[in-house]
Amino acid sequence: MRSRSARLGVMGALLVALLYTLSPRQPAAPVAASQQQQRQQQSNARELAEEEPDEGPSLLGEVFKAAEKPSPRPKYSLSEELRVQAIMNGSQQHGQVAKAGPLRADFWTLEKRPWREAAFMRMVVRDMAQPRQPAYWEADASGQLALKPLPLPFPLCHTYVNHKYRVIFIIHPKSASTATKRYMTLCRLNQTESCLEPLERAEQLQPLEQKWSEYFVFTFVRNPWARAYSSWKFLREGYMLKPGQVGKEPGAAPCVEAGWRDFCGDPLVLGRVCLAQPGCCPGREKDRFMFYHVTDQATCLVTEGGGLAVDFIGRVEHVDEDMKEAVRLINSRLPQGVPPLQLPDEVAAINVGPEHEDAKPPDNSRYVPAYLGANTTCFSLISRFYEKDVALMFPALHQSEQRAAAVAALPDDIALVDRRR
Ligand SMILES: *[C@@H]1O[C@H](CO)[C@@H](O)[C@H](O)[C@H]1NC(C)=O
Ligand SMILES: *[C@@H]1O[C@H](CO)[C@@H](O)[C@H](O)[C@H]1NC(C)=O
Ligand SMILES: *[C@@H]1O[C@H](CO)[C@@H](O)[C@H](O)[C@H]1NC(C)=O
Repeated sequence: MRSRSARLGVMGALLVALLYTLSPRQPAAPVAASQQQQRQQQSNARELAEEEPDEGPSLLGEVFKAAEKPSPRPKYSLSEELRVQAIMNGSQQHGQVAKAGPLRADFWTLEKRPWREAAFMRMVVRDMAQPRQPAYWEADASGQLALKPLPLPFPLCHTYVNHKYRVIFIIHPKSASTATKRYMTLCRLNQTESCLEPLERAEQLQPLEQKWSEYFVFTFVRNPWARAYSSWKFLREGYMLKPGQVGKEPGAAPCVEAGWRDFCGDPLVLGRVCLAQPGCCPGREKDRFMFYHVTDQATCLVTEGGGLAVDFIGRVEHVDEDMKEAVRLINSRLPQGVPPLQLPDEVAAINVGPEHEDAKPPDNSRYVPAYLGANTTCFSLISRFYEKDVALMFPALHQSEQRAAAVAALPDDIALVDRRR
């Protein structure tokens, strides 16, 4: 693919040639471009010139419309070095953060579950009607990307509360470390005073604004690129028939591929396959399970106004360190007479030792190949689908991409001036 600067070079040279000669019959000045592109532009200029021989300024406008518009670099197409860094890193925003207000109760109450699910499925059905081609994604350069970051959680944000310790904990699909899962399990088996109970009804937290502001609200987040690949692998290998296998129902067609690159182009693909070929997704959960595991993390962490709804962000990649810090902060603000919270030994121990190979904090290097070589565009695609997570966890990266996209969206003549500065 030709680079944007080469294409701008052509446009710039054409602009200069037309401005200074203002002679419509003269071909454009020689430029460093492919001969085919050059011929095309020259012939466009000639054709227009023959129609409107004496109208310089409007001719200029026409030439710009007729010339091939340079296709801007897709958002988040980073160098390999930066891509690897981003995949290996835990959330860059972590530790104590400034809480702006509560998470929308609509997003976590059981009562609103039917509303959330209906809205989500409407979006999925609308999205299923869209054509699926690579060009469909590239349309994003002009702001036409149909599949946007998901607008609401499905089916709900997992919030937990402990009134004694005055904490609210928010957990995300495919982001719980083994330690947090283990802790939840221990609590299910043996309810102690430090256990968390599911926060599902608005009455559990009245008045909401006040309690949300007083309680220590914390969460653990996982690197979005690692999480995306891990979700695909988990769902594709664990919950679907292999490509070409045939489901049990009579007349079933062989199950489609739904590989990693299909997924990175459209993370809803697994759920859509399960809707279309239910036999290929044995088990009880089916499409709902698939959709649930691709929802982002940020939707359950930000207020309606876009601020953070939490006091503390822990990193799954550094769970031991960050869990200790969270416990220290919880203990530093306990009401009188409440004994300090201790991380149960069972939980502290679970992250070490060779017998708990899969319980170690994840090393993201195993996810790098999913975004290299032939998979390179997956980085840009996953970044856009999980853009809310990228903005929250990698704010510097997100802001620099926002700036690049804003420049790319400028009309070419302004963009040229902007670049010359
Ligand atoms: C990754 O982390 C390193 C070390 O903290 C930091 O210097 C670098 O900027 C980060 N890169 C990205 C893309 O987040
Ligand atoms: C439940 O937890 C408490 C506190 O950690 C402990 O003392 C008790 O032995 C546990 N009970 C059972 C049945 O495991
Ligand atoms: C692309 O990702 C797939 C799926 O993980 C992997 O098997 C393959 O090796 C990757 N390709 C490259 C060129 O890294």
